[in-house]
Amino acid sequence: MKRLLFLTGNAGKLAEASHFFEPLGYQVEQFLVDGEVPIVVEPQSDSLREVAMAKIEQAKALFKQTGQDAAIFVEDAALFIDELKGFPGVNSASVLNQIGLSGIINLMSNTLNRGAEFRACAVLFTGEQLVFGEGICRGTITTETLGESGFGYDPIFSPDGEDSGRTFGQMDKTAKEAFSHRAKALESIKKQLDLLGR
Ligand code: IMP
Repeated sequence: MKRLLFLTGNAGKLAEASHFFEPLGYQVEQFLVDGEVPIVVEPQSDSLREVAMAKIEQAKALFKQTGQDAAIFVEDAALFIDELKGFPGVNSASVLNQIGLSGIINLMSNTLNRGAEFRACAVLFTGEQLVFGEGICRGTITTETLGESGFGYDPIFSPDGEDSGRTFGQMDKTAKEAFSHRAKALESIKKQLDLLGR
């Protein structure tokens, strides 16, 4: 098994990346230094790609010091709500902490315009090359929280194409993977790794 070290403090993201990569022969582990998730500086930017690139450069520098043999991986994702002009966007994590899912539902209480999208940018460093992938998942914001699976905004986001209107919060990892922004970004990376013969 090839080792893949994922620099993230988010257990939900780690679980989804493991679910995706492990059948492909990767052992996914959290990237830790001295038992802790290293702190990286995220640039103030509206571009997920820019944030992901800044993270992988810092991860590469930290990784060199460990002398290990593994691929390293970072990912940045966010929710963009049409009616709220892209809010919470790159501030998705802090907004969720501050106002919670109920806060988003309240902000959307008077609108029928419920479209939104998740976007993800992921970067894998093979040890020699950087491989970049991105994915978008369109869907709608529900009027109540539904389900307890997943993480973050999953209980209020129902992806387009899900005929019964289930939210990500009502899906297991395999079902979410059929739609999700993260799975699309990872799929793109997988295709490029295949082309590189890795
Ligand atoms: P970051 O990529 O670590 O900056 O986190 C972005 C935030 O977006 C997360 O903390 C979640 O709240 C949210 N988010 C990103 N991807 C997902 C997802 O697949 N489901 C639900 N929320 C997500």
